[in-house]
Amino acid sequence: MQRRHLVAVLAAAGLPAWAADGKKLVLGFSQIGAESAWRTANSASIKQAAKDAGIELKFADAQQKQENQIKALRAFIAQKVDVIALSPVVETGWGTVLREAKAAGIPVILTDRLVKEADESLWASFMGSDFVEEGRRAGRWLVDRLKGGKGDVRIVELQGTVGAAPALDRKKGFEEAIKAEPRLNIVRSQTADFSRAKGKEVMEAFIKAEAGKKIHVLYAHNDDMALGAIQAIEEAGLKPGTDILVVSIDGVKAAFQAMVAGKLNVTVECSPLLGPSLMQAVKDLKAGKPLPRRLITEEGVFPAEVAARELPNRKY
Ligand code: AHR
Repeated sequence: MQRRHLVAVLAAAGLPAWAADGKKLVLGFSQIGAESAWRTANSASIKQAAKDAGIELKFADAQQKQENQIKALRAFIAQKVDVIALSPVVETGWGTVLREAKAAGIPVILTDRLVKEADESLWASFMGSDFVEEGRRAGRWLVDRLKGGKGDVRIVELQGTVGAAPALDRKKGFEEAIKAEPRLNIVRSQTADFSRAKGKEVMEAFIKAEAGKKIHVLYAHNDDMALGAIQAIEEAGLKPGTDILVVSIDGVKAAFQAMVAGKLNVTVECSPLLGPSLMQAVKDLKAGKPLPRRLITEEGVFPAEVAARELPNRKY
């Protein structure tokens, strides 16, 4: 059958023209690294979904470095991939390389984190979470939990990677929500780069610096940092979850296990399972279908009280 006819047959069946060429779509994906259980689950979701969708995936792990992500994007452009997906480690500094992709006619989909660029035509779509809302949810849970109490509440905060959208937004959302209860104050706040080891290290430093003063709450921008901090709290002879309330974000299995053990009080969900939506978007793009500018994941809040019931349902 001639290509022209095949394209018409495919169109009648609702299939795109590129399917007539018998070539696989090629997606170049620039991943941040493997800093957390969330990230590991996100990479696995993308790899599995590409396989399921029959899309050839070129996967580049940037090991937390923006310069490696920029190099990967340039390599994808040189290889003339069909679509580029980027999960940007930080918000700024992407303009030049995104303009290079646009000039080469390669559409870019942002996944997980957004970039801060005035020209929003540099990407076709964003899919991921509303990080400000996640911060608000964590803050609202805390306000609710401490409602009706008296006296200052001293909070220490473990921030994510400096300059990363979830670190900036989760801080903003949390601060906004705790304003409802003026006795809640963040007394120390430092980055621990979304990693468990750094979460432990920074929490040790907080405990040392706050010696003689009470820390009432730990707010961690992700579960991994909270889990590292829990270890530091225990090693200091304190009870996480009781002596210090622990509030975090992601909802990974280990966080649910920590809640069942009474060491973590709440986790705000942030889903890493973006693979299937990404593959669908890649196909839609190539089929000329319009993509939503923002596809925001629906997520919940899981306090310790529901952890045992929810643990068997967790997928990451
Ligand atoms: O961008 C999502 C965040 O990045 C997750 O909360 C965190 O665990 C990860 O490293």
